[in-house]
Amino acid sequence: MTDTFLADIVAGLTRIPKTLPSMYFYNKAGSKLFQTIMQLPEYYLTKSEYEILDTQSAAIYDDFNPQNTFEIVEFGAGDGSKTKLLLQEFLKKTNDFVYSPIDISKSALKGLVKSYEEAIPTLNMNPINNDYFSALDSLRDNNTTKLVLFMGSNIGNFKDEGEVDFLKKMRANISEGDHALIGFDLKKDPQIIRDAYNDNSGVTREFNLNLLRRINEELGANFDISSFSHYPTYNPITGDATSYLISMKDQQVSIGDRVFEFKYAEPIFMEISKKYSEDNIAELAERTGFEIVNNYFDCKHYFVDSLWRAQ
Ligand code: AVI
Repeated sequence: MTDTFLADIVAGLTRIPKTLPSMYFYNKAGSKLFQTIMQLPEYYLTKSEYEILDTQSAAIYDDFNPQNTFEIVEFGAGDGSKTKLLLQEFLKKTNDFVYSPIDISKSALKGLVKSYEEAIPTLNMNPINNDYFSALDSLRDNNTTKLVLFMGSNIGNFKDEGEVDFLKKMRANISEGDHALIGFDLKKDPQIIRDAYNDNSGVTREFNLNLLRRINEELGANFDISSFSHYPTYNPITGDATSYLISMKDQQVSIGDRVFEFKYAEPIFMEISKKYSEDNIAELAERTGFEIVNNYFDCKHYFVDSLWRAQ
């Protein structure tokens, strides 16, 4: 892990503009900060998706309509608090399925397994600690009917249209007639989106800075955390909510024997959280080999869980 982590960080800081992969946000401290973000009043995404799953999980089951044993594979399962609603509803109909949560964070996955074992002991579980792309291969292992979950707007966090690549690979590893349920954050009043990524209590800022802290702790770097400022933006045309850390002075940062120069005002591209229109979603489904079965919205139309069928 440390070798890949180091290689990815060095590659990102060598690029122009400098960039750091947001998948590394989720060490123990980062996962905890993200759980706090999900509770923030400004972070509407979790509340919207919670409402969808709380009120429409039965409809999702009916539309999925499994005819025999099936497997639910969840990419980026996190702490699993929302998916629990879906699984509990599914278990009212059948327990002839296995739930395979995949997450890059060991601590989040451990927490999920513990809470599910207590709350839904009848659930058959097969947890997988891996990153998304490596975990895609596990989809190919058997011929069981599949429902792939990719919730919580995780789809929005791919840089450089990586979501197209990811969904195409996912499609290639499942069979025609399998389903995917994907959570998209919808384009809306830009101010609402800006607030969600620039909360008053500064947790999102800490969430970004935590990656610099992690690099210091795990790779022996010497980032001066106080000399980087958090700058989130939103582009209502592209739908890109993007966050940067800005170097507030000319400085050098070393990681082992490598030295990286930062100029005053130089950005590090940290994270993209893409927002979609309904047309964007339809186009993405078509480009990646799926058809939309149904869209489930929250009452404010802030968020949609979109059920797709592999064609
Ligand atoms: C995990 N992911 C969907 C979150 C998002 O909204 O893009 C991560 C996050 N970044 C800042 N706040 C939350």
